[in-house]
Amino acid sequence: MERELDQLEAAALEELSQIDDLPQLETWRVRYLGKKSALTSVLRGVATLASEERKAVGARANTVKKSFQIQLAEKKESLSLRSLDESLGKSSLDVTLPGRPLPYGRMHPITQDIIEICSVFADMGFQVIEGPEVERDYYNFEALNIPRNHPARDMFATLWIDSREDSNARLLRTHTSPMQIRLMERQKPPLRFVVPGRTYRYEATDATHDWMFHQVEGLAIDTDITLRDLKETFFEFCKNIFGRDTRVRFRCDYFPFVEPGAEVAIECVKCKGAGCRLCGGTGWLEILGSGMVHPDVLARCGVDPSVYSGFAFGMGVERISMLRHSVDDIRLFCSDDFRFLRQF
Ligand code: DAH
Repeated sequence: MERELDQLEAAALEELSQIDDLPQLETWRVRYLGKKSALTSVLRGVATLASEERKAVGARANTVKKSFQIQLAEKKESLSLRSLDESLGKSSLDVTLPGRPLPYGRMHPITQDIIEICSVFADMGFQVIEGPEVERDYYNFEALNIPRNHPARDMFATLWIDSREDSNARLLRTHTSPMQIRLMERQKPPLRFVVPGRTYRYEATDATHDWMFHQVEGLAIDTDITLRDLKETFFEFCKNIFGRDTRVRFRCDYFPFVEPGAEVAIECVKCKGAGCRLCGGTGWLEILGSGMVHPDVLARCGVDPSVYSGFAFGMGVERISMLRHSVDDIRLFCSDDFRFLRQF
């Protein structure tokens, strides 16, 4: 029996060495390792042998089986590799070439800055909320102390949606300030909100003006808010956004919906106050408008000005982004120039 196994092994391996393709190899496998193969029937018959022979034949048959399996696997691998080589030689696909990198998307620089600005205020306890870009005359102007024919309307070149002249006429909001009114109408003080969003002006574009840009509005109303809270809030804001040592300047300014109104400027990021082209020689860069909410505005929203006071502010995000990242043309933000956008 053992001799038969020797012969079987020799014959099988001899045959295997002649094999040249995968279908032939499969035939070989069925013949020598399949259910009906001689080896399988020897292994099946082992149990009926006398005990001494059983051990020897069993062991030998198992080694033969194992050797068949190993050689089969090796042959299979070498044949597969060869067939891959051949098919690669025939086709023009080169699987060894490195893959094309997939470009990563990223957030727009303005979006990144809005998130950063809002998170500085969120750390000071402000909630973040958005509002409609299509507004009513009432919210964009009237409720903010800018009635029809008020000269302050000239500050805001408006893109109108409706041509009718009443407080319901729709327009593209010229600033985020209308959200002050909506917030006070919606919720009793104390209030602390920042409102990021797009704003629109009917204006020719140049390096520092675009007809669509972003603002972040802020509003804080409570029983004992003073100008000092406004100043401290901006010291903190400017420190976080422009760096620890940034000097901040407050100056009187006029906006119909605040009294007093203040303009906030930071020391020029380029010349550090010496005076250069960026700051027009003044050493200072205006970054936002602000003030104490006008009592008439409070009263119109049902907030009693003898009990409550508050401050408001509005900043242009593009202006801040231009200063932070040394961008000298606002129009780049809305261009499709990936060389610009990829820098952020
Ligand atoms: N809305 C003003 C603008 O677009 C900016 C502004 C000034 C907002 C003073 C305010 C404020 O909330 O108090 O020019």
